[in-house]
Amino acid sequence: MPHVKQINHVAVVVDDMDKALSFWRDALGLDLHELRDVPAEKSQVAFLPLHGAEVELVRPTSDDSGIAKYLAKRGAGLHHLCLEVDDIEAMLKQLKAKGVRLINEEPRVAADGKKYAFIHPESASGVLVELYQI
Ligand code: CO
Repeated sequence: MPHVKQINHVAVVVDDMDKALSFWRDALGLDLHELRDVPAEKSQVAFLPLHGAEVELVRPTSDDSGIAKYLAKRGAGLHHLCLEVDDIEAMLKQLKAKGVRLINEEPRVAADGKKYAFIHPESASGVLVELYQI
């Protein structure tokens, strides 16, 4: 049986990075590990690690990305929860067998070799869930 190991990250969509950092970094006291542009995703991402997990703040840098459309439609807020699993193929197979609606039926592979796939919010209590295998 595949297992969920831990929460890997929680992604929050923001419209103003300075304003977001004034809360998450300055008021709450989380460390800002990295702030970088991700041209492939047309976004700027801030990584704030915490005990093996991370809060990721994502700000769209163009109006035509999926994340920009999400922000325009729903405003700033929680975008997705990412769970690390030990065997993503087996987990997707198990979810499919249980009738869970998947956005990615097969894992996708990121530039750094991580495998990931998204589960549709309709099957996950309204939350967009990302699975990671590192
Ligand atoms: Co993510």
